[in-house]
Amino acid sequence: MIDWSDYDRGHSRPSEDDRSEARLSLNDAAVAPPLDDVRDAGPMQSGKSPSLGRPEPDLEQITELPANRFSTQQNLFPRDGSASGDPVLDRARQAVDARVSQDFTADKEFDRVTVDQKRMINCRADLNQLVPIKYEWAWQKYNDACANHWMPQEINMQADVVLWNSDNLSEDERLIVKRSLGFFSTADSLVANNLVLAVYRLITNPECRQYLLRQAFEEAIHTHAYQHAVQSMNMDEGELFNMYHEVPSVAHKAEWAINHTRELSDPHFSTGTPETDKALLRNLIAFYCVLEGLFFYCGFAQILSMNRRNKMTGTAEQFQYILRDESMHINFGIDMINQIKLENPHVWDKDMQEIAMQMILEGMLLEIEYAKDTMPRGVLGMNARMMAEYLHFITNRRLVQIGLAERFPKAKNPFPWMSETIDLRKEKNFFETTVTEYQTGGALR
Ligand SMILES: [Fe+2]
Ligand SMILES: [Fe+2]
Repeated sequence: MIDWSDYDRGHSRPSEDDRSEARLSLNDAAVAPPLDDVRDAGPMQSGKSPSLGRPEPDLEQITELPANRFSTQQNLFPRDGSASGDPVLDRARQAVDARVSQDFTADKEFDRVTVDQKRMINCRADLNQLVPIKYEWAWQKYNDACANHWMPQEINMQADVVLWNSDNLSEDERLIVKRSLGFFSTADSLVANNLVLAVYRLITNPECRQYLLRQAFEEAIHTHAYQHAVQSMNMDEGELFNMYHEVPSVAHKAEWAINHTRELSDPHFSTGTPETDKALLRNLIAFYCVLEGLFFYCGFAQILSMNRRNKMTGTAEQFQYILRDESMHINFGIDMINQIKLENPHVWDKDMQEIAMQMILEGMLLEIEYAKDTMPRGVLGMNARMMAEYLHFITNRRLVQIGLAERFPKAKNPFPWMSETIDLRKEKNFFETTVTEYQTGGALR
């Protein structure tokens, strides 16, 4: 028999054999002396906190704690089913006894989920069963995203700190940096909230939910990245994080997104009718095609243009990783939208197509307004007119991605240098391109 009173005072550590014996003896009422007796046995001799009368805990001791704590003279697991003397434990045991004595199949139908039962929305099959996987594209994107994990602190911000505190940035360049950090810092929170509070509940497919959970974490990382940049450069946090209230060109975009999440954020909202199914589709188009697919692109182009001039290279590197993530978010969202259309043709009627077209054009116009506000003059080899052309080009792509016709057939990409980093044509095959250094999670450099 183990001398547990010795162990509790830190005199000795039980061997594995001793612990096995203790575990086997849990049903034995006489396994250990009462805890109070142990505490009264005298001051510990080898612990670091004599006043507490206990040694420093370590993990092994903690795992053994239940046996030790319950090592009273009470019989916690009496074989004859009688009360243990601990009313709380007895209540718990009664509840478990009542549950295990039931025929657990009596009032339930159990079906092993089949691929044919799985649906993007309004699925009635068990959502806790990830497999069999139906949407391989969703599972693949989840795995790709996990393979590209990064954290903001891994990026050196020192050059940005020096430059931000020097006279080597123009006021126009400073405006772009502040507006970008201000807009993105809250926009990513809006995306995360929409995912967690609205979309996740309504997408009834486990492999898509798996990706949504990963995306939600990535949005948290993005918000972290902006906060990291703001803090590194000792910027006015209040000014930047309140731009979505205080600066019209930022606030208009945020308001537009918030309006499109309001209906679905209602906990009583559910899909299942043509109207509510369309409401979900509108939300997905608003967030994936417009907020992530258009509202981010002026800021991305501006910051990456700075990087080409060797300015704000730390912030730009953060943005590059964020853009890589966002490219996948957009592609995933487009795949979801198109799969929902495929499975629910009634949601993609002429009315819905017109609504989708208008939403994307509204987004483009708001982003052009943002471009005018952030570039009152030409800066960094670009201006608002060129940005409008770029946004026409991206708008065409978003429209085509969800099955609508291009609106600006002659639009060209005025920033071909963007192709080196984020060529939109690479979005479909982002992980098969030459940016191989991105493919190893954690090895960012
Ligand atoms: Fe994001
Ligand atoms: Fe995103």
